[in-house]
Amino acid sequence: MIALGADHGGFELKEEIKKYLDEKNEKYVDCGTYSTDSVDYPDIAKSTCDKVISGECDLAILFCGTGIGISIAANKVKGIRCCACSEVFSAKMCRVHNNANALALGGRVIGVETAKELVDAFLSNEFEGGRHQKRVDKIVALEK
Ligand code: RB5
Repeated sequence: MIALGADHGGFELKEEIKKYLDEKNEKYVDCGTYSTDSVDYPDIAKSTCDKVISGECDLAILFCGTGIGISIAANKVKGIRCCACSEVFSAKMCRVHNNANALALGGRVIGVETAKELVDAFLSNEFEGGRHQKRVDKIVALEK
């Protein structure tokens, strides 16, 4: 299960990615926003990331204008490791090496087709563990 959340800057890209996830038969929860009316991305980051922290969702995909603001806010939620990505290699490696559990995309930065490729890379890769585990453990320790 994937938690989706966007501010007004990412709303349209979120809607496109919902259609794409429907095509792929991927299940998601849409945590808003539901229009292009202005909202504050920290509020959306919190409500969406809470779905991951509670265990209701496995991963989150977040959207704002740049992907930056919502990723900064998401990374303040304890237990979230969010990466703002605009190319496929990073969207893959943030799962494989960093065990990221949230991806942030910029609706004003990347096009829909690129966003679909990033979503595929993020969803189809898994944490490799091994030498990366202790580094992720050290990230977690920073939260204490
Ligand atoms: C909203 O105008 C915009 O600031 C927001 O979507 C995002 O780009 C912030 O990082």
